Amino acid sequence: MRARLCVLVSGRGRNLRALHAACADGRIDADLVRVVSNRPDAAAVSFAREQGIEAVVVDNREFGTRMAFDAALGDAIAAADPDWIALAGFMRVLSDGLVQRFAGRMLNVHPSLLPRHRGLHTHRAVMAAGEREHGASVHFVSPELDSGPVIIQGRCSVTADDDEDTLAQRVLETVELRIYPQAVAWACAGRLRWRGRSAVLDDRALTRPLDLTSLEEGF
Ligand code: GAR
Repeated sequence: MRARLCVLVSGRGRNLRALHAACADGRIDADLVRVVSNRPDAAAVSFAREQGIEAVVVDNREFGTRMAFDAALGDAIAAADPDWIALAGFMRVLSDGLVQRFAGRMLNVHPSLLPRHRGLHTHRAVMAAGEREHGASVHFVSPELDSGPVIIQGRCSVTADDDEDTLAQRVLETVELRIYPQAVAWACAGRLRWRGRSAVLDDRALTRPLDLTSLEEGF
């Protein structure tokens, strides 16, 4: 039976588009059943609706507390009865309770080589530190921000004439849009688990994250 995938967004939706394309062409064996956004004006919401995907907005500004927002967000996710939940540029920190509610079924793509540069403004931080290498990671979502077991990460170079935008674009195009569909494909095929402190792929606990050489054909 095909897995049911729910995608959480806040912004432009380039990762959402890549996940949608991979579901449509069969690389991800899942039905993308629902998109949930905290921003009504997100381009990702318009894209979902154009594609005929149900898109639900849970606007955080309409809730007085984080707990109330997370309860409504959790209900909007649960109503889709998803096997997997993919955070794709979802820019709200989730409460412990919400993370526990979907523990082991929630993935995130983060634009850095975790554990380096958790949180916001990762491209700026990489440039400020004078680092020559950057990238992105896909990890299980745990209560502590950007800290769950990393499944796969990909690297790219930082060049002398980069600014934040050129670097963000390179990370997205050369890394994120490849590793995220791949990781979600493994998840939806029943090949990925979270066990103890590790991500487990094909019953093998990953002692370190996979990299771009692990991508399968088509990703
Ligand atoms: C992506 O680069 C994603 O990694 C990042 O936001 C961007 C969303 O772009 N996510 C985070 O920073 C989460 N902490 P998109 O909406 O076009 O996919």
